[in-house]
Amino acid sequence: KLLTTSLLSAALIAGAAHAQDKEHLRIGVDVPYEPMEYRTADGELTGFDIDLGNAMCKQIKADCEWVVQAWDGIIPGLLARKYDAIMSSMTINDERRNTVLFSDPYIKPPSAWFVPADSSIETIYPQSLKGKTIGVQRGTLQDNYVTDMYGDVAKISRYTTADDLVLDMDAGRVDIAFLDFPVGKSTLLDSKEGHYKTIGGMITEPEKYFGEGFGVAFRPRDKELAERFNEALATLKQDGTYDKIYDKYFKT
Ligand code: ARG
Repeated sequence: KLLTTSLLSAALIAGAAHAQDKEHLRIGVDVPYEPMEYRTADGELTGFDIDLGNAMCKQIKADCEWVVQAWDGIIPGLLARKYDAIMSSMTINDERRNTVLFSDPYIKPPSAWFVPADSSIETIYPQSLKGKTIGVQRGTLQDNYVTDMYGDVAKISRYTTADDLVLDMDAGRVDIAFLDFPVGKSTLLDSKEGHYKTIGGMITEPEKYFGEGFGVAFRPRDKELAERFNEALATLKQDGTYDKIYDKYFKT
């Protein structure tokens, strides 16, 4: 009996040590950015990136912890080792490749313009937006784009979070918003049904994407970790997990 007990406790101790050995990864994310990453009413993190990120962690047998970080400091936070990866709807482009290493793209949504349903803005030619207030999230590729293209003619309001932008738009302080399409769709078109619409106009295809889709970002020397995430992503695409998560957030 005594032997059984001590064997059992030895096994338990070994088990505990093993659990501790499980690789622990921290992932930086900026919320809310619905439906990509946001909180449920109970404060729990959810969204396409969160579910997919958790599935990839499970696949590589790592124990993942999400670290919430404001968007405009999200790359510095990675380089300062506050977390080991960023999964936050970050668009892969060459400029960012100078500082981070990206996984393969895991989704590729376009950007889009959103206006109140009764807006008089019909096109997005710079002269149509003369004197208007354009809302963007600070430090996004949408911010860079409107700053370049409309900085001289329009007023640009930059927000720390996408939700702050939506609040000001509801209050009538923003005439037009430029956002990743799924986020504008979820926070403006769907949640305020009938109050907002998108307008397209002259924007050409490559500009709509600003890059190669959203990727997980790593520190440049973490090539092996990035490779493991790529393999996990490929597996999840093959075994149907990816489609399940996609449908949960994007099936209409
Ligand atoms: N896709 C855009 C970019 O990479 C915006 C992403 C913002 N993400 C977020 N979770 N707030 O610049």
